[in-house]
Order: sequence, then structure tokens, then C-alpha cells
Amino acid sequence: MTSKQTLLRGRVLSFTAEPQGPEDTSAYEFIEDGALLVADGMILAKGSYDTLAPQAAGAEVIDHRPHILMAGFIDTHLHFPQVQVIASWGSQLLEWLNNYTFPEEVRFADAGHSAEMAGHFFDLLTSHGTTTAVAYCSVHKTSAETYFTEAARRNMRMIGGKVLMDRNAPEGLLDTPLSGYDDTKELIAKYHGKGRGMYAITPRFAITSTPGQMEMAGALVQEHPECYVQTHLSENHDEIAFTAELYPQARDYLDVYQSYGLLTEKMLLGHSIHLQPREIDALAETKAKPVFCPTSNLFLGSGLFDDAGLRSRGITNAIATDIGAGTSYSMLQTLNEGYKVLQLQNQKLHPLRAFHWITRGNAVALGLEDKIGTLDAGTEADIVVLDSRATPAMDLRMQRAETLSEELFILQTLGDDRAIAQTYAAGKPMKPAA
Ligand code: GUN
Ligand code: ZN
Repeated sequence: MTSKQTLLRGRVLSFTAEPQGPEDTSAYEFIEDGALLVADGMILAKGSYDTLAPQAAGAEVIDHRPHILMAGFIDTHLHFPQVQVIASWGSQLLEWLNNYTFPEEVRFADAGHSAEMAGHFFDLLTSHGTTTAVAYCSVHKTSAETYFTEAARRNMRMIGGKVLMDRNAPEGLLDTPLSGYDDTKELIAKYHGKGRGMYAITPRFAITSTPGQMEMAGALVQEHPECYVQTHLSENHDEIAFTAELYPQARDYLDVYQSYGLLTEKMLLGHSIHLQPREIDALAETKAKPVFCPTSNLFLGSGLFDDAGLRSRGITNAIATDIGAGTSYSMLQTLNEGYKVLQLQNQKLHPLRAFHWITRGNAVALGLEDKIGTLDAGTEADIVVLDSRATPAMDLRMQRAETLSEELFILQTLGDDRAIAQTYAAGKPMKPAA
């Protein structure tokens, strides 16, 4: 049986390595009149339209010119139960959690509410060009079930996990070391490696897990080396001080996770802002991945992520929205704010590296670059279509743009969901055709 083929035509941009500077043309392939041949959720071929069109005689051709076709964006840290927390005024981390976030997450005990929010959450991701995300669900097993069910319904490569938290939160948000372990085992069995779903073992952070729960989390990591591990690290000074009180034996914040066996190259550590030299050494040795969350770090007044400092140690940093402390679902706006965070430290984020970061770079951080993050033949057909003239301000500025780098910088500075002309997940359009 021959399956239905689609030929997407547009300006094709795909990265092969991390660009080392604004003019590093060796790190990417850009085909001005390009095409992608897609079937069964996979990219069969990438090339010039003139080369591919004759090979795809029966294919439906969708002409996206003059838009750019790029790999779908990857968001490596955000919170599914915080869709109604985003844009909550006035607090820094611990107060924000207690006043806004925890009361909202309690509502996800209800499967109906959770399913309704999952629909909105996935709509928001794809309308902003995101095709893979790594999410925290709430403590309730049902929230992870609705998350993975919705991901499977849309055939999206999504990573997530129910949070483990057994103290310092309201009654309705607490599990126990044993129930957290049992629920996680059940969820891994049900969803990890099923379709495109992948599981992340998710102790929320040191403050909300007892040593007993950290021990159980360590057992889960040992028993499931195929899964990711995600948590938060050194986001805020009060958080760091409270953690030191709760874990007096730990050498530093990261040592809490390290001493329970959680620190591996599969670990994603949200924020990682205020780090000690020993913690940086340990991240470099273990190849764990710090996650830069610029809109969140500015919104909560948490601090400035030292991207260049960590990179100089050979550490691979991921980048993410951190919804709902983050203020935009857009990875373009995440780059916009990331650029400013680095400017404040006299560091530079040039647009080629920026777009590599939210596509192939985050895929590399997840060890998934053979599946997502590029437009290479044989990878999954997660594709975003970018309109560099989506708004009057962008259109006006584009009249002075002469290079691809300039166009990309306009997209990352002025673009948001309005610049997403279409998003394909496993080859399927997620937005109604314009
Ligand atoms: N640390 C622990 N939980 C959270 C959360 O939900 N958001 C952020 N930004 N930091 C956290
Ligand atoms: Zn977070």
C-alpha cells in the first residue's frame, strides 16, 4: 500500500551543528526554493523544489512560500497545570508558589478539569510553533494521564511526569514517598515509549520532597535509566536558604539531588542561576542539563542565567518558557527575553545560534536529535512555518533586512504566535489553513 505523500514548499532552514558565529554558514542548510517530502509522519526527503517535485508525482503540494520551513520548536521546561496561573502579579518564587500556583494545581485532582486544560495547553503549544515540550504535571496521577492522552491524540512527541511532592504544600497537593513511587511506576509502564510519549521522573524541588521521597526518586531513576529526570535548581536566594535548612548535610543545593543518585545526563535542571563552583563542576562531570528560562527569571526577579559561563565548561544548556512563571508560550519571545538577559551580562546571542537552540540545540539536550529538531530525511515531520512579515512592525522592518540572520533576528525579537503560519506535528497541520 502506498501512503499519502505531501510536498511542503518554502524556504527551508535546518541546522546541522551549533553555529559558532553570526556568519557561520557551515552549521546550517538554507534552500531558498526548497521542499520537504512528508509521509506517515516522517520526512522522506529534503531538497530543492525542482529536485523533489519530479520524485513526488502523486503528492499534494502545499506552497508556503515565502515563509520559512523550520523544525518545530522544543520547549524543555514548563508546567501544564499553570495555564491559569500565567500573569499573576507581584511575588517572587516562594510567595508566588504559595499564593497562586499551589491553589491552582489542587484543581487538577479533577479529571474533567485536567482534560479540559490539556486541550487548551496543547492548542497553545502548537499555535506558538512548539511541537515537543517537557512538562511538569500536577501531583495527581490523573493530570499525567490526561496530558499523555492528549499528546497521543495529537500524535506529538511529548515528555512529562507527575510531580513528586510530599511536604511544604497544601494537603490536596501531597503524595507520599510510596504513593509517588507507585504512581510513577504505573505511569512509566503506561506511557513511556508508547507512541511518541516519554516519561520524566519529576521531584518538584528539594523544598517539597522529604529525604524519604528523594530516596524513592533515586530508586525510580536507578530502575528507569531510559526516563528523563526533571527538577528545579537554584532559582531564588530564599529558596536556596530554605533548602540548606532542610538538607543540612548537603554540600550545596545540587548535592541534594546528587546524593540521592538523581544527577545524570538525563537530568534537566530548571533555572540553575545561582550556582557554586562545585555545582558547576558536578554539572560538567555528569553532563546534566541546566535549563535557561528567561521570561520566568525576569518575571519573578530570580536572577540572570550565566549561559556563557556554563558553556565555557562544556555544559549543554537547554532553553524553555517555564509557563506559568514564564510570560509567553512563544519560543520566539523566549529568545527575545533571553537575548536581553545575556545583554545585561555582556554576552551575545546571535540569531543563528538562537534558532539552533530552540530546535536542534534543545533536541541535543534531550538526546533526541536523530528524531526531532532538524528537517533531515528520516526524522519525524514536526515542522513550523514562519512568517517574517506577520505584523505591520515586522513588515516595515523586513524592508531593510538583507540577510537571513537579520530576518531571523526580526522574527525572534518581534515575532510571537502571529508569526506562526502553520505547525505540523508528525506531518499533520495543527492550525486551520489560512
Ligand atoms: N520551583 C518549584 N516549583 C516551581 C514552579 O512551579 N515554577 C517555578 N518557576 N519554580 C518552581
Ligand atoms: Zn518550573
